[in-house]
Amino acid sequence: MDYSRFFSDDVPSFMRSPVREIFRKVDLSAIFSFAGGYPSAETFPLDGMGALAEAVVRKYGAKSMQYGATQGVPELRELIARRNGVSIENVQITTSSQQGIDVCTRILANPGDVVEVTAPTYLGALQSFRAYRAEAVTEEGLAGRKPKFFYVIPDFGNPSGETMTLEERKDLVERARREDFLIVEDSPYRELRYEGEDVPTIYSLAPERTLHLGSFSKVFAPGFRLGWILGPQELLEQIYICKQALDLCPPVFDQYMAAEFLGSGELDRNLLKTRELYRGRRDIMLGLLEKYMPEGVTWTHPEGGLFLFVTLPEGVDTVKMYDTALSEGVAYVAGSFFFADGSHCNTMRLNFSYIDMDRMEPGVKLLSDVIRRSL
Ligand SMILES: Cc1ncc(COP(=O)(O)O)c(C=O)c1O
Repeated sequence: MDYSRFFSDDVPSFMRSPVREIFRKVDLSAIFSFAGGYPSAETFPLDGMGALAEAVVRKYGAKSMQYGATQGVPELRELIARRNGVSIENVQITTSSQQGIDVCTRILANPGDVVEVTAPTYLGALQSFRAYRAEAVTEEGLAGRKPKFFYVIPDFGNPSGETMTLEERKDLVERARREDFLIVEDSPYRELRYEGEDVPTIYSLAPERTLHLGSFSKVFAPGFRLGWILGPQELLEQIYICKQALDLCPPVFDQYMAAEFLGSGELDRNLLKTRELYRGRRDIMLGLLEKYMPEGVTWTHPEGGLFLFVTLPEGVDTVKMYDTALSEGVAYVAGSFFFADGSHCNTMRLNFSYIDMDRMEPGVKLLSDVIRRSL
């Protein structure tokens, strides 16, 4: 039966994630994968998980399995508020930061509205903007139109790996105030810094017009699907109402697990190990690119996060090259997927957190060979 006549007008705008399509088709353990944004399983606190779950049951009992408040359980909101130096009223727990992006778009954007993005930007955000029929454009594409909000990943961007300087953040805030638009600051990698100094969040520079999205995915475990939004109470109120229709409340047991993990100091202890592990992988990755990549190939040098972004000579098409790479056993994500206009076909995103240390060298060597042959 053809069901298309039943679908809403939004459905044709939905966009598949090419990254998730890769995972559908490929057994990641059978290839050298630099494709996904997966954390290393080594960073999951598996050994302490049983004890953590027992502590949650002992402390919260049946409450840990009951429906909870739509804003999130107060214990977790309070801990996040304290960690970020804000009041609990400025914290909304989300069922991950992907939901944070979606819910912000849902309360802010009408079909046809303009959302300003950087180039490149996070593919999952482009999917949300498309789903609400908002138009994602870069500053050059605005053509005099005013954005409803600016979506930005200022810390170790996905896919670029790059970080906005304080000056750039101040300039953005100044422009947002002058031109009167909001800022959605998506920062799931903020705590994964391997060198250099923290740069103040955009939220701290403009709390009155910023929604800041955080996530437990890269510092605890993505399977728990937990994140948070910091923002002005009036905006969070709309998000709260909207979330009632979405999921009633974020997963309660998971929130108590996160509260115990964070409140006991275990999260910070685990973060030290996680940063150490990823710093090592980033350094190895940078060294291997230097050793194997053909001349004319350049890449970013991220101070943190999970990705670096590679630019190949003009004329190479990484979408076309992908099937060859995969058939030879190596995966990446073509960079053009991260550009709202599908440009920059000669780029790719490489993840360095997921692949085992001893598989990095053969993987980069293989990828370099595929690239060399396509030049
Ligand atoms: C920039 C950015 N935002 C949001 C997400 C979604 O993360 P989660 O929904 O697991 O919190 C990701 C995931 O990779 C990301 O890179």
